Amino acid sequence: MKKILITGASGFIGGFLVDEGLSRGWEVTAAVRPSSDRTWLQDPRIRFLTLNFQDESDLKQKLKDEGRFDYVIHNAGTTKAHLRGDYFAGNYEVTKRFVDAIRSNEQTPDQFLYVSSLAAVGPVKAGEQIEPGLTPNPVTFYGESKLASEQYLATLTDFPWSAVQPTAVFGPREKEMYLAIKLACRGWAFLLGAKPQELSFIYVKDLVRLIYAALEHGHSGKKYLVTDGKKYNGEDVGKAVEAATGRRTTQIKIPLPLVRFVAAVAEIVGALRGKMPLLNREKLPELAAESWRCNMTETFEDLQFQPRFDLYSGMRETIQWYKNNDWL
Ligand SMILES: NC(=O)c1ccc[n+]([C@@H]2O[C@H](COP(=O)([O-])OP(=O)(O)OC[C@H]3O[C@@H](n4cnc5c(N)ncnc54)[C@H](OP(=O)(O)O)[C@@H]3O)[C@@H](O)[C@H]2O)c1
Repeated sequence: MKKILITGASGFIGGFLVDEGLSRGWEVTAAVRPSSDRTWLQDPRIRFLTLNFQDESDLKQKLKDEGRFDYVIHNAGTTKAHLRGDYFAGNYEVTKRFVDAIRSNEQTPDQFLYVSSLAAVGPVKAGEQIEPGLTPNPVTFYGESKLASEQYLATLTDFPWSAVQPTAVFGPREKEMYLAIKLACRGWAFLLGAKPQELSFIYVKDLVRLIYAALEHGHSGKKYLVTDGKKYNGEDVGKAVEAATGRRTTQIKIPLPLVRFVAAVAEIVGALRGKMPLLNREKLPELAAESWRCNMTETFEDLQFQPRFDLYSGMRETIQWYKNNDWL
């Protein structure tokens, strides 16, 4: 039986990564924080490990006590923060401390998989697609911090790491695209800016299958672009919701200066509540980018992987889940 350690297990993607490991009959250890919400981690077979990535010696000791894992998926990450330093602390510094602790304990796994982001590569211009190996040009602090983690891993020639770079992930339990989906279910779909956008998506169940394929077939030292391989435009989210619900949506274009203003207001409200809003000015260059389309040939061939869902079939399942769980 394989032993796997999954960080960020309490999050949206983490919960599905845990489920997949259990369904394979593996021994799954979920790394969490004392404050982590365990709603989606109820299976009695899950082993829990509370890790504090801020405390180097405690981290080392806790990992030593656990013994070696066959696989490690480092999925924990800061996706919303106020300052550049917060992104670097939650992504780059956590990753470095975690890897350093594993290495100094001599507990190197068969594969250490880092869940990075397409934000580490950055978008391209309209009509272009992101190719494997493209020189990265992140447009947010989040993307820069994910890239810094990848660059640190790339310095480790004697450590078997690989990374996945997922585009926007959606599916049951997800709380960000959920807001757009909820509005579309009520008949309103919003498009950012006047220019057409080329978007990409991946359904969470496909992402998780792809991550396990990368553990088993991925090449060490390689980074894999992750989308479902299809090309979408800004209107497709609304259309996918329409197809799933049978209810017509009205597509409304919001000019970028107005989006920027709304984001600024949301940040002020967020600061008063002590929370970073989903829509914030730092995130805008990603949200308004011209093209997130990727060339997926290399990922699918290397990992012997084919997605089972596209935006439309994934949206049907997602909306059904939201309805069954009273989110809609
Ligand atoms: N969702 C997407 O569209 C998307 C796209 C590309 C890449 N990704 C990457 O996928 C990973 C998972 O994302 P998600 O969407 O599932 O996000 P999420 O729901 O916010 O989950 C993030 C997870 O990381 C943990 N975490 C955050 N900061 C941490 C820290 N400093 N120390 C320890 N644990 C920490 C959280 O723990 P708590 O529960 O304790 O807060 C949570 O378990 C992230 O690395 C993200 O960058 C996501």
